Amino acid sequence: MEKKVILSGIQATGNLTLGNYLGALNNWVKMQDEYDCYYMIADLHTLTVRNDPEELRKNTLNLIALYVAAGLDPDKNTIFIQSHIPAHTQLSWILNCYTYMGELNRMTQFKDKAAKHADNINSGLFTYPVLMASDILLYNADLVPVGEDQKQHLEITRDIAERFNSIYGDTFKIPEVYIGEVGARIMGLQNPTAKMSKSAKDPMDKILLTDSSEDIRKKLKRAVTDSENCVRFDKENKPGVSNLMGIYGIIKNKTMDKIEEEFKGKGYGEFKNAVAEAIIERLEPLQNRYNELIENPDKLKAIYEKGDKKAEEKANNILKNVYRKVGLIVD
Ligand code: TRP
Repeated sequence: MEKKVILSGIQATGNLTLGNYLGALNNWVKMQDEYDCYYMIADLHTLTVRNDPEELRKNTLNLIALYVAAGLDPDKNTIFIQSHIPAHTQLSWILNCYTYMGELNRMTQFKDKAAKHADNINSGLFTYPVLMASDILLYNADLVPVGEDQKQHLEITRDIAERFNSIYGDTFKIPEVYIGEVGARIMGLQNPTAKMSKSAKDPMDKILLTDSSEDIRKKLKRAVTDSENCVRFDKENKPGVSNLMGIYGIIKNKTMDKIEEEFKGKGYGEFKNAVAEAIIERLEPLQNRYNELIENPDKLKAIYEKGDKKAEEKANNILKNVYRKVGLIVD
């Protein structure tokens, strides 16, 4: 039987956090044998807000290195750069003509970003979901692993694909959102009621995958808890401690009950130390691989060139079919 196709991507903004790793990458690694996986760097999406060009280039390469360092095998997964595959922007134009302004107007991410970047509400920000739909539909993806905040973009992708199919006959596979493991949602260390975000202003709120052991220890020491001094899982009333338990649980593969037992009668100091050491131990091999890759740009280039080639072939086939269906001259 043919393997199901998975596609996902991460924008090239800043460094990835422990949240990106435990909530996304770590799950992707587990899927690499069972599925035919496409993972891209969404560098074109990154352009919807202003970036320093050198930073963007650096972030894109860093992200490729982190994908591989986290355990994504470039021989098993197609790892590629979105902007290297012209079909993404080509399909995006076509799909723009099958997407209503009213639909795009309802996107909560657009509303949020427009509020945040009031001086730069560009049309790329508005049509962002159409480019994302193109990313997904170009590979006949069955499943798209994304976070809660991207679910609405999956829904509009399905709507666009269904609309197109109903006009031109079966063309696009209708993708499903893939929800990762429960508990994989990592919250900020300073503000544990909001997701740990790589764009968080406060460096103490997030653990970067490239943080040194000292930084990790320091950040854990300062992590927000509560005054009960009892390691007990209660998301509602103890979001800080519960988040740290979640992190520890994923890394150590332990249930919340087991963790409560382990730290019975022990204070937060000891608990935080244990969480910090668990994170450091888990990140060490990843950081070693990452450093090796970053110092070896030729190796990095070979990885994405291989992925680009495979991605381009698949995407071009689907694009050609779409061109033909809408009436463009193809051959
Ligand atoms: N919009 C996604 C995000 O910011 C990134 C992304 C771009 C993506 N294209 C995609 C995710 C296609 C999944 C599939 O998180």
